[in-house]
Amino acid sequence: MKKRSFSGIQPTGDIHIGNYLAAIKQWVASQAEYDNIFCIVDLHAITIPQDPKILKAKIREVSGLLFAAGIDPKLSAVFVQSQVGAHAELAWILNCFIPMGWMQRMTQFKEKSKELKEQVSVGLFDYPALMSADILLYDTEVVPVGEDQKQHVELSRDLAQRFNSIYGPTFHLPKAVIPEVGARIMGLDDPTKKMSKSEDNPGHAINLLDSPDEIRAKIKRATTDSRREIRFDEKRPGIHNLLVIYEIFSGLSRAEIEASYQGKGYAQLKKDLGEVVVEGLKPLQSRYQELTAEAGHIDSLLAEAAARVRPLAEKTLARVKSRVGLG
Ligand code: TYM
Repeated sequence: MKKRSFSGIQPTGDIHIGNYLAAIKQWVASQAEYDNIFCIVDLHAITIPQDPKILKAKIREVSGLLFAAGIDPKLSAVFVQSQVGAHAELAWILNCFIPMGWMQRMTQFKEKSKELKEQVSVGLFDYPALMSADILLYDTEVVPVGEDQKQHVELSRDLAQRFNSIYGPTFHLPKAVIPEVGARIMGLDDPTKKMSKSEDNPGHAINLLDSPDEIRAKIKRATTDSRREIRFDEKRPGIHNLLVIYEIFSGLSRAEIEASYQGKGYAQLKKDLGEVVVEGLKPLQSRYQELTAEAGHIDSLLAEAAARVRPLAEKTLARVKSRVGLG
């Protein structure tokens, strides 16, 4: 029996290379090793205001990008969260077992609510409960994510343990799997900030559907320091971030990269990086165009996957309801 791997992605903003390098690329690479379920988390998306038409379009776009990146619908189920009712239902039950203190410690909520202040939704605060429901419904063992989701996955593990200690074995204990390199890709405009889908500055992120010229221009404008030496050094976040992106896209080792840039400047590195990223995204971009040209294809893959995972989710939900004494 293969281990169950579950992960999710929000259908909001534009999917960027941070999402790709830390999450999607891992999902593709480990498809044969695990029994995979990937979820387009539209219920999480509405924790902040969304335009209904754009949200619907983004669900198709993100799904299309996952398939274009190499997710094989025969090996992995890619489905839309709101199409499986058990997610919202289990989230409610889990809410009743999560101490407020655990939720108040979540750093992502603290950061996101800083801007929204009093307007922040209860849903955004409750985000980790829904995420725990996503994970725990499928007897998940591994959760491949970027570093920013580690705390949420740990909460789901603590919650599973807490529930099991009250009611006896009910949930598997999930574990976050975070890549060694690229777990936290930083913004090009400000390398002290994580690359994010919700940032407005057009120079902030490289999106998977950016044109070659946009990619080159964004990298050219990327913020660096005023030194010259090209070396992997976390204390120099701008150049370090560019080098990490180069390392993953090129497949070269750190030593090879540093050696090949001895005596060369940032302008050369940026020029080469632009080409490496353009070439690296080309196959994905052309597969995306092919996939989306076929009307209804993506929707039918999503519906098939939802039908496939729904019984798994319902089985776990029934187990939980019976443990708690509901119904
Ligand atoms: P989301 O949509 O923000 O991001 C999707 C994945 O991309 C990773 N990521 C990054 N990795 C490296 N550098 C970055 N700058 C960067 N930005 C994003 C994220 O860590 C994530 O792996 N809460 C989740 C979605 C979710 C989920 C789940 C994930 C809902 N339910 C259950 C796992 C399991 C989120 O908002 O991801």
